[in-house]
Amino acid sequence: MFKANENYLKLPGSYLFSTVGRKQREYSAAHPDKKVIRLSIGDVTQPLAPAIIERLHKAVDEMAVAETFKGYAPDLGYEFLRNTIAKNDYADRGVDISADEIFVSDGAKSDSANIQEIFTADSKIAVCDPVYPVYVDSNVMAGRTGTYDKNTELWSDVIYMPCLADNNFAPELPKETPDIIYLCFPNNPTGATIKKDQLQEWVDYANKVGAVIIYDAAYEAYISEEDVPHTIYECEGAKTCAIELKSFSKNAGFTGTRLGYAVVPKNLKDADGVSMHSLWARRHGTKFNGAPYIVQAAGDAVYSDEGKAQTKAQIAYYMNNAKVISQGLKDAGYTVSGGVNAPYIWLKTPNNMSSWDFFDYLLENANVVGTPGSGFGPSGEGYFRLTAFGTYENTVEAIERIKNM
Ligand code: MLT
Repeated sequence: MFKANENYLKLPGSYLFSTVGRKQREYSAAHPDKKVIRLSIGDVTQPLAPAIIERLHKAVDEMAVAETFKGYAPDLGYEFLRNTIAKNDYADRGVDISADEIFVSDGAKSDSANIQEIFTADSKIAVCDPVYPVYVDSNVMAGRTGTYDKNTELWSDVIYMPCLADNNFAPELPKETPDIIYLCFPNNPTGATIKKDQLQEWVDYANKVGAVIIYDAAYEAYISEEDVPHTIYECEGAKTCAIELKSFSKNAGFTGTRLGYAVVPKNLKDADGVSMHSLWARRHGTKFNGAPYIVQAAGDAVYSDEGKAQTKAQIAYYMNNAKVISQGLKDAGYTVSGGVNAPYIWLKTPNNMSSWDFFDYLLENANVVGTPGSGFGPSGEGYFRLTAFGTYENTVEAIERIKNM
């Protein structure tokens, strides 16, 4: 008789955003008269920008004509898109990443879950706490995390780097040496960032101890402050220790369209000199048939002059929501951080409520859905995340309701 993968059986509960979604649907079903406002999962609400839609239409038309029809996409991505990314996201920032170090994918969530496959099964991972749950869950599935302690909600073989108010939600170098370090800046869920000299410390550390950094830069487009790095490759030596993941979801509204990329530098080699670039290429070749042509064409349009201007305006729209949330919550007496270089606002729950108690309280009393901080890890207990990705009208209404609770 076949048997299930025992690693999957170790996963506690369902995926965080599935749980949040289920609770919201149950509440809405029980209270059909209530207008529930979702500020929970970081899903965009603004439609795709006109320049992107125009390119999508054109690409669809190309698929109807024999001369321009496209079949399987190249599994590493179309060259036109990889060249555009190399120029705009790297060369224009003075960073030298070549087009063939870029692997186009269907999004940063898949890349952040899959990238661990190219590292040995006994690799020790280090994660921030709180953390985007995909990093830990995907390593649980790979059998790398040891045993789960229900009381502490910690895995025995994972190195946790607590990110709390007293370290400005920035991790400190771990005491125990990891093999794989997951960093995400601007951070999901806390919205915190680190400066370039702080990131340089991580790069120096990783090169010194022989660790690899998986750098999730999905929220890079939201950086508004000077001296916050837009890519880890701004740091010297990053090409020998870092993989960078980028998404088109948050900067250009592709959450439903799906597009992202990973940078795996050619100089990234393991202890035996094995090229991680060639392993990731091998993995793509076997397991991935490329993001759809029409989506990659649309991704290219994000970097056109119109595309840049239109997506910048959308980011400004969401960051205005972030201001509304931050200011409104502060006025209501909450302790708030994030929301400056990221579309996430991280708040302390009032009266030492647990994160899930506050979730219920907010849902019942303000009909607003957020994400409990403890869902991102034990150091998120007593915190709560709201996203700025709602519509302006809903965001204003949600904050008014919270103020009136
Ligand atoms: C989040 O809400 O944390 C993200 O939207 C989830 C994701 O990007 O997969």
